[in-house]
Amino acid sequence: MNQIDQFAGGSDRYGLEHCDSRSEQDKFVVRVKELSERDRRRLLMHFLALNDNDRYLRFGSMLSDELITKYVQMINFSRDAVFGVYDNDFKLVGVGHLAFAPRDVLPIVSDATTKERVAEFGVSVSASARGIGVGSKLFERAAIHCRNADVDTLYIHCLASNQTMIHIAKKAGMEIFRLHGEADAYLKLRPANPASVMQEAVEEQVASFDYALKANARAATKWLEIMSSQPKKDDD
Ligand SMILES: CC(C)(COP(=O)(O)OP(=O)(O)OC[C@H]1O[C@@H](n2cnc3c(N)ncnc32)[C@H](O)[C@@H]1OP(=O)(O)O)[C@@H](O)C(=O)NCCC(=O)NCCS
Repeated sequence: MNQIDQFAGGSDRYGLEHCDSRSEQDKFVVRVKELSERDRRRLLMHFLALNDNDRYLRFGSMLSDELITKYVQMINFSRDAVFGVYDNDFKLVGVGHLAFAPRDVLPIVSDATTKERVAEFGVSVSASARGIGVGSKLFERAAIHCRNADVDTLYIHCLASNQTMIHIAKKAGMEIFRLHGEADAYLKLRPANPASVMQEAVEEQVASFDYALKANARAATKWLEIMSSQPKKDDD
């Protein structure tokens, strides 16, 4: 069966009409921000906090702490795009890694595109923040980022038993191909237009503002903790 034909329809879910009101009802508003070098330490903390099963689902094997550290050290922020979601305590609770590669590197999608590059997406959400749309929002942001970066094919590889990820992929319009306990999926994306560029820019600006507020609140809390733990000086 021709896999590529099955994906040809794609989905318009990741167009400009997207609006998911679910997050408004949740304990924090999910804002997706592009991460940079300064987030590397928090990225490491996020990945190290994943348990063995989550590491297996995310990376395809139970990476040791040492290998996770190497993976984080090797993330190339100028080549790839890394997106994150911070909770109200300025803890990084969701990470989406969008890795760009020449299309020949991924033979399963190389015939589906005439573009030079394709993108592979990997995602993880902390156990404490699951089921409130963080993973889906990270996926949506990755999809619009691809459009705006002139990449029309977004690929995901996961275990066939990963029901949650399969659900997210299906919701996005991907068709899933299962082989030997693993699953491949890809999504054909519409080309960028002024509105998609504007949408991503606005989302990033709002998320940056939210990030600054949370970072400042975290710094203030730490400062208060330090001040209140210092012994009081005698008045005389
Ligand atoms: C997969 C993962 C990223 C999902 O993150 P999340 O923030 O919980 O995802 P969301 O809340 O956006 O969406 C979860 C969806 O899956 C559904 N879901 C949850 N458990 C499910 C299950 N066992 N079977 C089917 N669907 C399930 C939810 O109902 C929800 O659907 P909805 O949006 O239609 O209501 C997270 O579980 C995770 O980090 N897992 C470990 C790492 C991993 O598997 N990564 C993916 C491989 S790259």
